[in-house]
Amino acid sequence: MKILAIESSCDETAAAIVEDGVHLISSSIASSADLHEKTGGVVPEVAARKQVESIVPVIEDTLNLAKMTIEDVDALAVTVGPGLIGSLVVGVAATKSLALATNKPLIPVNHLVGHMYANWVDIAADTEPQFPAIVLIVSGGHTDLILMKDHGDFEFLGGTLDDAAGEAFDKTARLLNIKKYLGGPALSKIAGSCTDNKMLGRLPRPKIKDDDFDFSFSGLKTAVMRIVEKGDFELESLACEFEAAAVDVLVEKTKKAAMKHKVKSVLLGGGVAANTQLRSRIQHDLKKEGINVHIPPINLCTDNAIYIASAAYFNKVEKDLKDIKANPSLGIMDSV
Ligand code: KG4
Ligand code: ZN
Repeated sequence: MKILAIESSCDETAAAIVEDGVHLISSSIASSADLHEKTGGVVPEVAARKQVESIVPVIEDTLNLAKMTIEDVDALAVTVGPGLIGSLVVGVAATKSLALATNKPLIPVNHLVGHMYANWVDIAADTEPQFPAIVLIVSGGHTDLILMKDHGDFEFLGGTLDDAAGEAFDKTARLLNIKKYLGGPALSKIAGSCTDNKMLGRLPRPKIKDDDFDFSFSGLKTAVMRIVEKGDFELESLACEFEAAAVDVLVEKTKKAAMKHKVKSVLLGGGVAANTQLRSRIQHDLKKEGINVHIPPINLCTDNAIYIASAAYFNKVEKDLKDIKANPSLGIMDSV
């Protein structure tokens, strides 16, 4: 079954065709991130206008790359939330129109569930994640620990009480004058250049010892701010210590959840899953416990439509076109 999926939840306009949820056929992405760099943050209306400009070229590009026409796809899929309402409605309206014009089914997809399915795309035979699994979704807007018992059978274990992991990286990058918008990767690069963390242990590891599966990253960012205000720090060490603190908490809580629920696998998803430290630490610490760790390739961590098509295949929802709506505050457990 070939699914053409559209993702337009924030500042990326993406389309992809995936067969049977696992075989990538083609993918195309346009991003308006450069525009938001100038303003130091995403301006929702600017993002939405760019979505309108990019949506048709991106769909055409994906079909051209696949050497297919719309008639060759079996179903359409679209991200219905969470995200920015102005951006979401562009993708939802476009795919509803396509579905109406071609009489093809349209599958609504939760963006957060999408992130999980980056772990199913183009993997080697017999290496798909085994259930039950713990999924750590770490993105710009979310930090969620999910118990995945099967496709479509999820239990929310915990999430962030304030800033998301990616948000904490981005805010800290701005505080350290590294980059104004989406500075997470740039901060991580500087942290990676530090050979001797002179600030080891200077930052808190919020909630690391708590028995729950919730996270809190705003205190960590405030602790960085206090150090910056005093002015007595070395950038590489502070970046390294921030990254170490965030990764310590993410890995420890994920490990605790995996042990408690005696899972067979741990899955990573979301933009922060591109973080080198997080990837190696989670792999190392969970392997020691005999748990298989699945981490998507970097290009499948950040927003794209490939995993939306995969999630649509494994979580088919039959819904009348008129009932498919954008929902900016859709939660991980909400039905689409
Ligand atoms: O999943 P995503 O592309 O968009 C959302 O759905 O939010 O995640 C974007 C987030 C941003 O906060 C970005 O700074 C962060 O992922 N990110 C990273 C890295 N790459 C992306 N954070 C830390 N280290 C990285 N290498
Ligand atoms: Zn995302």
